[in-house]
Amino acid sequence: MTDSRPYDIVILGATGFTGGLTAEYLARVAQGENLRWAIAGRSMKKLDQCKRRLSKIGGSGSEPGLLRCDVRDPQSLSDTVAQARVLITTVGPYIHHGEPVVRACIEQQCDYVDLTGEPEFVDRLRHKYGERAREQGVRIVNCCGFDSIPHDLGALFTIRELGKRVEGDVRGEAIKLEGFVTAGGRFSGGTWHSAVHAFNRWRDYQKDRKYWRKKAAKQPRNSNRIVKAVFPDLRFRRSLGAWAVPFPTIDPQVVMRSAKAIPDYGARFDYGHYVLVRKLPRVLMGVAAVGGIFTLAQINMGRDWLLQQVSQGEGPSESQRERGWFRVVFQGRSSQCRITTQVSGGDPGYDETAKMLAESALCLAKDDIPKTAGIVTPAIAMGDALITRLQSAGIRFEVLA
Ligand SMILES: NC(=O)c1ccc[n+]([C@@H]2O[C@H](COP(=O)([O-])OP(=O)(O)OC[C@H]3O[C@@H](n4cnc5c(N)ncnc54)[C@H](OP(=O)(O)O)[C@@H]3O)[C@@H](O)[C@H]2O)c1
Repeated sequence: MTDSRPYDIVILGATGFTGGLTAEYLARVAQGENLRWAIAGRSMKKLDQCKRRLSKIGGSGSEPGLLRCDVRDPQSLSDTVAQARVLITTVGPYIHHGEPVVRACIEQQCDYVDLTGEPEFVDRLRHKYGERAREQGVRIVNCCGFDSIPHDLGALFTIRELGKRVEGDVRGEAIKLEGFVTAGGRFSGGTWHSAVHAFNRWRDYQKDRKYWRKKAAKQPRNSNRIVKAVFPDLRFRRSLGAWAVPFPTIDPQVVMRSAKAIPDYGARFDYGHYVLVRKLPRVLMGVAAVGGIFTLAQINMGRDWLLQQVSQGEGPSESQRERGWFRVVFQGRSSQCRITTQVSGGDPGYDETAKMLAESALCLAKDDIPKTAGIVTPAIAMGDALITRLQSAGIRFEVLA
């Protein structure tokens, strides 16, 4: 990416809830990072209000530029991303708003980070735009929030630490890794809308997946390494004192894509992903609640009713976020040794997500990292450099045993 562009980072969606928190984070670090940045959106009035708020946080000299940009207007999108080295977008649901943004970034050779946790969107990008992004030398990095940074970088951190304990080359090892997540926090209107739309589109997504799988099976394999998901089972884990419930988020897919691309994950890599719940009745209540919402979202009337229950633009208050927390424990083993690690921090969905997203963009814009290209995961694109950044920003990566 060329330095002659006016901005290191442009953030699209700063007038929304999570984008607003991400812009506040950037305002706080802008001077220290020597950052040239801008906020973009469809309403200049809202952008002006946002800039005034940010000026109070960052002080003079750190104010962002303002760019008018509507994701439904290809010219405004193209003009916006042409001015940036890295684009952050928090305009969701991504399945509705994300594709034109990615297309513009690829054509204008602007690196890209987002907050999606929508598997359909990411799969669609990989199959439609993977090759073009590689040709253009552009890094399209999805899932740079709580989905899936703690899991993806936590797995990478565990592999690095395991590698220190293994005699010889870790690349020859068979490694089994399991991630167990627990978290407390509330969600925003934007997250609720994205989840309800994803549930509503489940059947269409399954059809597309079948087609993509068939197509991929015809491609020649270019590695003998094996990367597989652990068969999901519901079990009480005595070592963790809780029930481990298989949870179909995008996180295990992201970890396994990183494992496929990075040989340090071993000659064979098996990954299991679970939510930890202490009491069995809570497991049953959780499954019933998610099942109920999923079923209701299958019919359009049910979907619309669900969408009306929480408005976009709203999210948890500062005091609610202050009570938020998350912890992901990883248990890994190879033929030679075992390891337990943990990634933890504060409010998962918003305060820490804003930090993860902003630091991901800063890492792409400012750090001297190995150049990758394509539709890539955080571990592939930013890897160890982003772990270092997040540790400095207060997210804990620890070896427990
Ligand atoms: N995976 C994770 O860890 C995680 C965590 C948090 C959030 N998220 C995701 O992040 C996304 C945003 O969530 P949120 O709660 O911040 O949503 P939000 O408050 O509703 O914000 C949406 C933003 O998109 C903008 N926007 C909408 N349509 C646009 C268009 N046509 N052109 C340009 N901008 C447009 C809105 O601008 P206006 O102000 O003009 O309406 C607003 O700035 C959701 O998809 C959510 O699922 C993911």
